[in-house]
Formats: sequence, structure tokens, C-alpha cells
Amino acid sequence: MDCRYCHTSVEASHEANIPPTQTCMNCHNIVDVDADELALVQESWKTGKPIEWVKVHMLPDYAYFNHAVHVDANIGCASCHGRIDQMEIVEQAEPLSMGWCLDCHRDPAKHIRPDNVSVTQMDWVAPEGHEEIMNEYIKIHGISPPEDCTACHR
Ligand code: HEC
Ligand code: HEC
Ligand code: HEC
Ligand code: HEC
Ligand code: HEC
Repeated sequence: MDCRYCHTSVEASHEANIPPTQTCMNCHNIVDVDADELALVQESWKTGKPIEWVKVHMLPDYAYFNHAVHVDANIGCASCHGRIDQMEIVEQAEPLSMGWCLDCHRDPAKHIRPDNVSVTQMDWVAPEGHEEIMNEYIKIHGISPPEDCTACHR
């Protein structure tokens, strides 16, 4: 499934939303209705009580981050979240430290994909000559990741 089926706001908002139980029920009112693994979902659907979100990624409040800006610049989810498709339980794949943010901001070319469709493609690999092409693309489209303190500490 495309990540954006559930994380619907990731291209439009600073935050990537967590889907409500309704999203699961679009299918699981028909598929695997009685599976033990879906007991929590069925319970939540019956009671109307949302399932609690176990938050994994957590920047400190003093650091500002916006998903839409990054996803609209065609950076793949995998650059920051790793191979989510291969994780049975989601874990943090990258340090999310200031040095990590800045490493990419100084040289983003290899993380930028040619189109918006491939942004959620987990097994995407850069074709040969990709960085050169993307360095041109960055110039043409005026993509300019900030390095000044006030961009991330507002
Ligand atoms: C677009 C349809 C669709 C949506 C939406 C969907 N699922 Fe599924 N889900 C499936 C299919 C298809 C399977 C595989 C069923 C099978 O192999 O028997 C599955 C399997 C599962 C399983 C494994 C069940 C088992 O028997 O091992 C779990 C757990 C699960 N889904 C949870 C969720 C949760 C939680 C959500 C909402 C966040 C969700 N699903 C949303 C289609 C969907
Ligand atoms: C069927 C719906 C569904 C799909 C499709 C889906 N996710 Fe999720 N995702 C969830 C739900 C629900 C949670 C929260 C789980 C929890 O709280 O334990 C979650 C959690 C996450 C988290 C952890 C958030 C945090 O810090 O707590 C990340 C990162 C994530 N998803 C990325 C992705 C990526 C990347 C894809 C595409 C490869 C994807 N998701 C596809 C439903 C989905
Ligand atoms: C440039 C890096 C980057 C990219 C690209 C990125 N994320 Fe994230 N993601 C983060 C960071 C950093 C956080 C933690 C944000 C916080 O705690 O404020 C996060 C948090 C999340 C969360 C938890 C909800 C939230 O907003 O805190 C989900 C779900 C998620 N990301 C899904 C995705 C999906 C799906 C994609 C691809 C469409 C994606 N992310 C692309 C860096 C990224
Ligand atoms: C994989 C590459 C990559 C990583 C990692 C990354 N960024 Fe960015 N970021 C970019 C690019 C590219 C842009 C420029 C987008 C544009 O100009 O369209 C950007 C723009 C920004 C902006 C300016 C736009 C805005 O929202 O005001 C901020 C702030 C920002 N990033 C914060 C962060 C923080 C904080 C982190 C670490 C938690 C981070 N970024 C990690 C690539 C990255
Ligand atoms: C691209 C985004 C970005 C830029 C630009 C940036 N920072 Fe940060 N900064 C972060 C993030 C993210 C963290 C949180 C890191 C963590 O939790 O490990 C952080 C953490 C910090 C901390 C706390 C460190 C600690 O050890 O607790 C200080 C102080 C700081 N930044 C100062 C600055 C100064 C001064 C500048 C300008 C020279 C700057 N930052 C530029 C993203 C940025």
C-alpha cells in the first residue's frame, strides 16, 4: 500500500497524521474480520475509542520540522525513515540529530527523486548519474535547504 493512503497529510501539512480506525475498516470490515491480530481494531470500531498511538519519532520542541516541505521537494520517506516496509514494528532508523539534518541540507542531491510518485517507493535506487542531474534540478527549481539557526529554531 502507498504510505499516503494512511498518512494522508504528509504532503500538505507539517505533521504526518496517524490514520483513524475508519481507515483500517475500509478493508477490514471484509478482509480478515475475525483475525486475532485485528482484535484491537474491531474493539476500537465497536467502542468508538481510538487506538493509542505509540510515538516513535520525537524531535525536541525547540526544533522545527515540516513534512510537506520535504515531501514536496521529492525526498523519499526512506531517506529519513529507512525501510518501513521491512519493519514488523516501526523503529527510528536515523539519528534525527542536528548534524544529520545539516548533512543533507548541505548536499541533498542524492536524496531527491525525479518525481513525486516515487517518494513512497521503498526499494527505489538512484540511477547512474542521478546526483549530477539532481544538482541541475536543484538550481532550476531553486531548492534551498537552510543552514541558518533561525530556520530550525524559531
Ligand atoms: C486497502 C485495504 C486495507 C487497509 C486500508 C488496511 N488493511 Fe490490513 N490487510 C489488508 C489485506 C489485504 C491483508 C492481508 C490479508 C490476508 O493475507 O489474509 C491485511 C492484513 C492485515 C493484518 C494481518 C492480519 C492477519 O491475519 O495476519 C493486520 C494486523 C492488519 N492488516 C492491520 C491493519 C490496520 C491496523 C489497518 C489500519 C491502520 C489496516 N490493516 C488497513 C488490507 C488492508
Ligand atoms: C494501513 C495504513 C498505513 C500504511 C499504508 C502506512 N502506515 Fe505508517 N503507520 C500507520 C499507523 C496506524 C501507525 C501508528 C502505529 C502505532 O501507533 O503503533 C504508523 C506509524 C508510522 C511511523 C512511526 C511514527 C512515529 O514516530 O510514531 C512511520 C515513520 C510511518 N508509519 C511511516 C510509513 C511509511 C514510510 C509508509 C509507506 C511505506 C507507511 N507508514 C504506510 C499506518 C500506516
Ligand atoms: C527529511 C526527513 C523526512 C522525510 C523525507 C519524511 N519524514 Fe516522516 N518524520 C521525520 C521527522 C524528523 C519526524 C519527527 C517529527 C517530530 O517529532 O516533530 C517524522 C515523523 C513522522 C511520522 C509521525 C507523525 C509526525 O509527524 O510526527 C510519520 C507517520 C511519518 N513521519 C511518516 C512519513 C512518511 C509517510 C513520509 C514519506 C511520504 C515521511 N515521513 C517523510 C522526517 C522525515
Ligand atoms: C534527506 C535530506 C534532508 C534531511 C535529512 C532534512 N532536510 Fe530539511 N530540507 C531538505 C531540503 C531539500 C529542503 C529544501 C526544500 C525546498 O527548498 O523546496 C529542506 C528544507 C528545510 C527547511 C526550510 C523549509 C521550512 O520548513 O521552513 C527546514 C526548516 C528544514 N528543512 C528543517 C529540517 C530539520 C529540522 C531536519 C532534521 C530533523 C531536516 N530538515 C532534515 C532536505 C532535508
Ligand atoms: C536544519 C535544521 C537545523 C539548523 C539549521 C540548526 N539546528 Fe540546532 N538543532 C536541530 C535539531 C533537529 C536539534 C535537536 C537534535 C537532537 O535532538 O539531538 C538541534 C539542537 C540544537 C541545540 C541543542 C543541542 C544539545 O546538545 O542539546 C542547540 C544549542 C542548537 N541546536 C543550536 C543551533 C545553532 C546555534 C544553529 C546555527 C548555527 C543551529 N542550531 C542550526 C536542527 C537545526
